[in-house]
Amino acid sequence: NNYIVIMAGGVGSRFWPMSTEEKPKQFLDVLGIGKTLLQQTVARFKTIAPAENILIVTSSKYKELVIAQCPELLESNILLEPCMRNTAPCIAYAAYKIKGLNPNANMVVAPSDHLITNEAEFIRIIENGLDFTVANDTLLTLGIQPHRPETGYGYIQSASPLINNDDPDSYRERINSSAQIGSEGNSYVKMTDVPTNFSPSGETERGISDDQCGNFSPSEGTEGGICKVASFREKPNLETAKTYLSEGNYFWNSGIFLWSLKSILSAFESFVPEVAGIFQKGEVFYNTEKEQAFIDEMFPTCTNISIDYAVMEKADNIYVQPADFGWSDLGTWGSLWEKRERCEQGNTVVGDRVHVFESNNCIVNMPKDKKVVIQGLDDYIVVEDNEVLLICKKEEEQRIKEFRAAVLGA
Ligand code: GDD
Ligand code: MG
Repeated sequence: NNYIVIMAGGVGSRFWPMSTEEKPKQFLDVLGIGKTLLQQTVARFKTIAPAENILIVTSSKYKELVIAQCPELLESNILLEPCMRNTAPCIAYAAYKIKGLNPNANMVVAPSDHLITNEAEFIRIIENGLDFTVANDTLLTLGIQPHRPETGYGYIQSASPLINNDDPDSYRERINSSAQIGSEGNSYVKMTDVPTNFSPSGETERGISDDQCGNFSPSEGTEGGICKVASFREKPNLETAKTYLSEGNYFWNSGIFLWSLKSILSAFESFVPEVAGIFQKGEVFYNTEKEQAFIDEMFPTCTNISIDYAVMEKADNIYVQPADFGWSDLGTWGSLWEKRERCEQGNTVVGDRVHVFESNNCIVNMPKDKKVVIQGLDDYIVVEDNEVLLICKKEEEQRIKEFRAAVLGA
């Protein structure tokens, strides 16, 4: 019943000039470990679903790249978009196509460009989340504890955890005895099993059926369970991100979503009916030879909108599973700098003939045989690839998208 949808149609513009429109970062081995980001993503999911249940949604122009990098997948599971319309249409297409294969399916939606270092924990969290979404009509996202006011992510505000600070054990006992549907001590609350006037302190609390959490406490980190989301905020500005961080009950949205097919279809129908309508019309064509012609004609008419703005900010059955599996978005050069091995001065260099003097915390990516000297740079990105040299302060890296557009005249 579990279907995995991997989104691989982005251009990775903040990773320019290494990531290009011809070959975006998901098709590159950015870590230098012998596997591209897409290949790593597929490999991670193989223990959760058989290859025939793994779908990749990408642009038509990357079809050959996907086939070459993921030969184990069915060609009919490579969904090809004629143009980019962001992630809401991408996910809607996959959802309506899966409906034709298995209307009782559960879906995991994942980006193709993340780094996850603790795979065992990742699998545990996904399996746990799937159990939850099977039992409840919810949209579940995996939340990461934030450690900097990143403006490139969505933020998830968790509803205040219902922990009785005086006696957390009594609370936990009640939760566990009445409503545990998780496994191996990672319990969470099944909504229907919890009396709506139940409160850990014994008082009746307003709206508890909406606000309840599993035995989650922010201080407990990953041992916490699934929690109701109070609000979802896609990509705040720096000032807002700083207040989120200081408030303490915000997570980063990992961009990994779990839900039953029924829940996401109903969310699409409520919040983006025009997009839902297009893919509903196609239902008779999916998994037939007419599918591509229908998509090529109708996909461009979809609204260009991400799933975060289209659904996650609007729906009220959003839940978050706190997750700690060594996640990194690898969205920018700075995030790669964080992950790569660095010298004492904090520099990380690719290139055999690069000499660095009096410089700190730089990420340098040069062609192998290029002779380069760098002096007196702190916190810089220095990259040459695809006939472009980019030198940019790390703190301005979100603007690389803009610089790329200026150079390409786009
Ligand atoms: N098929 C397809 N079509 N895939 C797409 C498209 C599209 O039009 N646009 C983006 N993608 C893919 C990208 O390749 C990537 O794997 C994933 O969808 C997410 O898109 P990004 O463009 O990387 O989104 P983001 O990083 O700015 O923001 C999202 O991810 C963050 C965490 O990484 C949001 O979900 C944020 O809320 C989240 O914090
Ligand atoms: Mg991203």
